[in-house]
Amino acid sequence: MDHEPQPGPRNRSRRTFVLRVLGVIAAQLGLGISAPVVGFGSAPSWRARTPPRLLSESVVPTLRAQGWTSVGRIEDFEVGVPKRVAPVRRVVDGWVTREEPIAVYVVRRSGSKAVAFDPHCTHLGCPLQFVEGARVFLCPCHGGVFDSKGSVVAGPPPRPMVRYETKVEQGEILIGALEE
Ligand code: FES
Repeated sequence: MDHEPQPGPRNRSRRTFVLRVLGVIAAQLGLGISAPVVGFGSAPSWRARTPPRLLSESVVPTLRAQGWTSVGRIEDFEVGVPKRVAPVRRVVDGWVTREEPIAVYVVRRSGSKAVAFDPHCTHLGCPLQFVEGARVFLCPCHGGVFDSKGSVVAGPPPRPMVRYETKVEQGEILIGALEE
């Protein structure tokens, strides 16, 4: 009667070693497949902890603020002179809601009226700067120029500057949603 040769202690330990190595490889493959799935599933929680900054604090056209936010007392603004302010607003970006400073240009029109502009060029969204001497908003990207009322004066921008809903209550200038 033939008997299969039994593996010696040396062969057994080699087999155990190979099985362990295969086990480790299988575990790593499993981790590699499951990590993206787990990451995707928990995206809202990690995004809330580390909010992404796209270009700068003032890049908000894709963010939508909610409610009314004070940008200051009307007497702190000179009539006809745009002033840049950065109120903190509750903004919604996809499924993330957070408090965020946003840049806004506020222009007092008269004793009790004001308008507020989003400071992004309506061409491709570059941040605008108000130039006091020339009394215009300049775009550094392609030379777009807007006057202090937000109308296009020169360059490629296709539309006037985008405004926020604005109201004045008890001497306080409040901004609402961006007007479409
Ligand atoms: Fe302002 Fe192009 S982005 S002119």
